[in-house]
Order: sequence, then structure tokens, then C-alpha cells
Amino acid sequence: MKIIVTGGAGFIGGNFVHLMVNKYPEDQIICLDALTYAGNMETLEPVMNKPNFKFVKGDIADRELVFHLFKEEKPDVIVNFAAESHVDRSITDPGIFLKTNILGTGVLLDACKEFGIQRYHQVSTDEVYGDLPLDRPDLFFTEETPLHTSSPYSASKASADLLVLAYHRTFQIPVTISRCSNNYGPYHFPEKLIPLIIANALNDKPLPVYGKGENVRDWLYVEDHCLAIDLIIRKGKVGEVYNIGGHNEKTNLEVVKTVIHELGKSEDLIEYVTDRPGHDMRYAIDPAKIHRELGWLPETKFEDGIKKTIQWYLDHKHWWESIISGEYQNYYEKQYGNR
Ligand code: NAD
Ligand code: TYD
Repeated sequence: MKIIVTGGAGFIGGNFVHLMVNKYPEDQIICLDALTYAGNMETLEPVMNKPNFKFVKGDIADRELVFHLFKEEKPDVIVNFAAESHVDRSITDPGIFLKTNILGTGVLLDACKEFGIQRYHQVSTDEVYGDLPLDRPDLFFTEETPLHTSSPYSASKASADLLVLAYHRTFQIPVTISRCSNNYGPYHFPEKLIPLIIANALNDKPLPVYGKGENVRDWLYVEDHCLAIDLIIRKGKVGEVYNIGGHNEKTNLEVVKTVIHELGKSEDLIEYVTDRPGHDMRYAIDPAKIHRELGWLPETKFEDGIKKTIQWYLDHKHWWESIISGEYQNYYEKQYGNR
């Protein structure tokens, strides 16, 4: 099988590329990535010399480049991770989210229509369902929950999902979609909550908590997400959406305090800052369908996953220190300077 993985130089795509290259030496894995601020060739270092891996630099919204790649490579499967992925950036600069997340997805679908494909898999998010109230712990997102987005990021991801389903219905493109909860683990860009808190705590810098820190996220170890996608592209039913999550709900404050305690730091580092506009209160996935139909269950508990993640950041200081000392510094100043 020849698989194009878009966005493979990012956090989840990178973990997925590592998994696929090592687990399926007989498959060919091609990573297509534009190397935006979030893409990092160091993440692909461990697989660069593997005979079944190839890297192509390019934008999924570049029609000519994508069509050329499909013509040359004749892929069997596309797994689309490529996206602008940070809610806060979508609030300050929504335009690029529309271009990459919606138009880019459209270009990939057009290429599938033109050249044929065995499977197009769209990596989506639970954020397309909007949020749940804190006082209704009985409610969860199922695949039938209506799309009801809050941020330009989630609106762009929901638009892409609708496009994917439209290409299935209208042009019979064999698609699947997965909607996963918040991931954490190795290679997570340090603008997102968990790696940002780890990096700041290690540097004894303030730990910015939005609002009161009571918002709830449903955390999943990244490897479990990657294993679920692998299962969906091999055994999932065409035209179906699968929710992925491990019933691991935590308030942001709980997460921040866990990291503080694991690192032996002081809670005095916590700094409550102005809340995110439109901040979603609670995400919580019901993963019953993927468990029932494909037998997927998460393997890593939060208590173990967070320890492994912290250890990874301790062992790979070079990976994240070179990010936070570079261009990212300007973003950090803009985002937190006057908050
Ligand atoms: P990320 O920001 O870490 O990585 C995104 C990657 O896509 C980067 O390598 C970047 O260079 C690349 N990219 C961006 N624009 C591109 C373009 N136009 N063409 C080609 N490549 C481009 O993101 P992530 O956290 O790894 O998320 C990957 C996917 O998973 C996204 O689609 C996201 O919506 C989804 N998702 C993320 C989470 C999460 O918790 N991080 C949860 C559920 C779903
Ligand atoms: P984030 O990692 O940006 O993921 P998402 O917004 O997609 O869920 O944020 C996770 C939660 O942490 C979210 O409720 C916002 C909050 N947060 C903070 O409190 N402080 C921060 O510095 C960041 C980046 C996020």
C-alpha cells in the first residue's frame, strides 16, 4: 500500500508516520507537509533514512503540486492531518485556517476524484461539536451530535468534514472521518497547553491559565489516536464518522497541577490570565462506536501518559528549546505579553 500522510511533520501526523513506517515496512509512506511554523523536520529525523519513507515539501492547497504528486505516486490511501490547528491563532488570524483547512481539503478531494483512491481519511476533531455545559456530566459527543462550532478553527474543521461527506455522496469518493479529543504526548508544539506548561515549569516561568481554569478537556495519549486511525483506514466502513476518545476528562487546572507536582515545582507559578474569547467549556467524547465496531480501546491511562510525556520533554530538550528560542518567541510575546 502507498499512503500519503499530509501534515506528517506536525505533532499527531509525526507520531502517525513513525508508527506506520515501523509497523508496516512493506508499505510506502509519503509525507506531504508545507513546513509551517508547526512543522519540524527534526520530528521526522528518526524515519528519514528508512527505505519505505519519503518526504515531500508542499502545500495541500497548491493544486498543481498535489495533482502532480498524485500522478507521479498513484497513492492508495490519503490520511489528511495537515491543518492550522491552534484555536488562539485562529482568533487572531482566521484567513489561513480557511485556506488550509477548507480549501486544502478540497484540493486533496479533487485529486482523489481525478486520479482515484482506495481511501481518503480526514483527521477531524471533537471541536466540531461545539461544547457541553459543565453541569451536565451525563452528556457526551456522539457521531450524531449536530455540528455547532465556536472558533474559526472549529468552523474550518467542520466545513472540511462537510466537504468530505459531500464528495462521498456526490462523487462516491471512499472516505472516512475521525473526530478525536485533545491529544498529548511527544512532539507536541509548545504553544498548546500541556507542552507549554511543561516547558514553562522547567524554566520556572509563569504558567498561564485562561479564566478560572475550570474548562474541561478529554485527554488522549497521541499513540492511541494513531492506532485508532490505522484501524479505521484498514477496517473502517466507507462514508462513516468515528469518534475517538478515552473518557479522560480533566479541568485545565487539574492538568496544570499534575504537571507541577510531577516536576516538583510550586503552584505559585500559576498565573490566571484573561480568558480566551468564545472559550469552549467542556469536551467529552463517547467512543462507543469505534469500540463496538472496530474493537478499539485506549491503551495508555492519563496517569502513565503524562509521566511518559514529561520524561520525553526532559529527554528531548533540544527539540523544544530550539522552537521556543526562535520565531515562536514573537508569538508568545503577542499572545501573553499584555494578557
Ligand atoms: P500541528 O499544528 O502540530 O501540525 C500540523 C502540520 O500540518 C504541520 O506539520 C504543518 O507544517 C502542516 N501544515 C499546515 N498547513 C499545511 C498546508 N497548507 N499544507 C501542508 N501541510 C501543512 O497539528 P496537530 O496537533 O498534529 O493536528 C493534526 C490534525 O489533527 C489536525 O487536522 C487537527 O485538526 C487534528 N486534531 C488535533 C488534535 C490535537 O489535540 N492536537 C485533536 C483532534 C484533532
Ligand atoms: P489547547 O491546548 O490550546 O487546546 P484546545 O483549545 O484545542 O482544547 O488548550 C487546552 C485548554 O487549555 C483550553 O481550555 C485552553 C487552555 N489553555 C490555557 O489555560 N492556557 C494556555 O496557555 C493555553 C495554550 C491553553
